[in-house]
Formats: sequence, structure tokens, C-alpha cells
Amino acid sequence: MRWDFSKIRLDIKEESDRLKTDQELEAFRVKYLGKKGLVSEMYSSLGTLSAQEKPLVGKEANDLRNLINALIEEKKQSIKRGRKKDSGPKIDLTVPGVAGSLGHKHILNQTIDEILEVFKGLGFVVQEGPEIETEFNNFTALNIPVDHPSRDAFDTFYLEEPDPHNKGRFLLLRSHTSPGQIRIMKQYEPPLAVVIPGKVYRPDAVDASHSFMFHQIEGLLVDKDVKFSDLKGLLTVFCKRLFGEKIKMRFRPHFFPFTEPSAEVDISCYLCDGQGCSVCGRKGWLEIMGCGMVHPKVFEACGYPKGKYTGLAFGLGVERITMLKYGINDIRLFFENDVRFLKQF
Ligand code: PHE
Repeated sequence: MRWDFSKIRLDIKEESDRLKTDQELEAFRVKYLGKKGLVSEMYSSLGTLSAQEKPLVGKEANDLRNLINALIEEKKQSIKRGRKKDSGPKIDLTVPGVAGSLGHKHILNQTIDEILEVFKGLGFVVQEGPEIETEFNNFTALNIPVDHPSRDAFDTFYLEEPDPHNKGRFLLLRSHTSPGQIRIMKQYEPPLAVVIPGKVYRPDAVDASHSFMFHQIEGLLVDKDVKFSDLKGLLTVFCKRLFGEKIKMRFRPHFFPFTEPSAEVDISCYLCDGQGCSVCGRKGWLEIMGCGMVHPKVFEACGYPKGKYTGLAFGLGVERITMLKYGINDIRLFFENDVRFLKQF
């Protein structure tokens, strides 16, 4: 036999595997199926073959032609697919990925942390109290008389839940963090130094400087022989750490039922440095907290022996301090969750 058909078949398959372009495919077709190609050569040889060989070669040539046609069709598709893949979007593995955006601490929590750090450095312990309080802790134990206007429903959110320890009275949302003082003193004996951060609630109409919920940090230090000069020294160190060494302070006499004497603390205006401007209302001073020496009646309500201890207390507004520190002019910005505002801090 002139042709080794099984070898030819193997060669053809191998050759077709190596084809990569339309041109190579066409050359392959011509080589085997063209007028002068191998298969045509086989057909034209049929006339010269013996009657025995003729049908054998004829059949092999037919099979070869079918095989080659199938291979060409298959190859055509795979070259087309390859072209499609190449023209698709290119993936550049060296480009940095798109990172998901991570949140961060709210500016008010950053201020709270900063303030707590200062007091922790001065030996204070951080404690928290519940936002739902008894009228006793929020008012009575703090020497706030029954007819005091802050007890009024216009000034305090009362719940429908009755106070289990005080018949006829209702629980309420604490209107300041000072009930935290009562909880600490009922539980611990002096010496003690605590700061109590948290949310407080008052049914105020919301505007640029009022919110029905805001944050306070309460401070309480009780021991034998605590003096007003300790209060002054402590708060001076605190203000200088928070606002810078240059800050000036003043203590203004004030009244709180649960401290005696009481004072309000002002710092020199950050904007005009005491000259007087629109932020400080031309006063040159900004009020940042209330403070005083713990009233003996408060010790009494907590069960401390009469005359044994003295103490200092203070309460500061977190929103107010944050607004002063960063020049924010509207308290609502803290709570509207506008990421454009929050992202700045
Ligand atoms: N509780 C007072 C207020 O909310 C602040 C204060 C706390 C004053 C402690 C004196 C001592 O206004």
C-alpha cells in the first residue's frame, strides 16, 4: 500500500493541534483538501489501483476527508473563541484592589475618650450608670426639692413604668449624669474618684443648641479633707490638658442643690482669646461645666456618716465641649448621620 493511513491520521491530528491562526488553518486545508492536496492525490490514484485496493483506498480517502473537515471546523471555532477572549476587558493583577470603607469612632465618642483619658491619668476610675433612673437617684437624693422646676414633666421624660422602690412614683430617663454619684456612693466607701460618661435626656425643643438627648461626663471625688482648692486645681489641670496650656479659666459662683458651694467654670474663648467675639457673645468667656463641693445632704442620702467625708463633683457637656473645640455651630449635626460631616473628624 502506497499510504500508511493510520500514521497519516496521527500526523494530521498533531498538525491540527498546533494551528493558531486563520492563515495556518487555510494552509492546512490546502495541504490536505486542496486540488493538489493529499486527499485529491488519493482520489486521482484510484484509476491506477487494483480492484482489491481500490475500495480500501477510496474508503480511507473519504474518512480522511471527513476527519480533516471536522478538525478544520473545530479549529475554526476555537480560534474564534480565542479572539473573543483577547478582545475582552484585560485584567491587570497589579492594580491595587478596591477596599471596603471602614467606619470610625463618632466625634462625640472621640471627645468622651479624650476626656476620660485625662481623668484616668489623674487616678479616676470610669463607671457607667443606667439611662433609666429612679426619681430618688435623679432628684431626691441630690437634694432637689419636690417643687423644683427640673422635676416638672416639661423638663423630664417620665416613663409609664412605676418605680418598684418608691410607691406612686415613676421611673424616668435621667436628666443628668449626677444620679451616677448616688449609685457609686451607695455601693462604695471613700476614698473614691470616678468619672461617669453617658447619655442624658430632656424634653427640649430641638434647635441649633438644644437636643432632647445629649452626653455628659460626671466626676466625683470623695475622701477625708477634700477642699475647694482641690476642685480648682483638678479642673485647671483638666482644662489645660484638653484645650492647651495657654487657656485661661474662671470659676463663677453658681447654684446647684447638690453642691455647696457651687460654681460654673468658664474658659477663655478659643476664637478671640478673651477679646470678645460672636462665638462667646462678646464676653470673651465660654461656659463649659458645673461643679462644686458635695452637699452634706447628698452624703446623708447615700448613708455616709455625718461630717466624716468631703467631696468634689463636676458635670460637663460633651456636645458643648466638642462644639467649642472644633468650631461646630449646630448640635443637630452630631445626630443627623451625614457622613460628609462625620468624615471630617
Ligand atoms: N448635673 C449638673 C447639670 O446637669 C451639672 C453638675 C454636676 C453640677 C456635678 C455640679 C456638680 O447641669
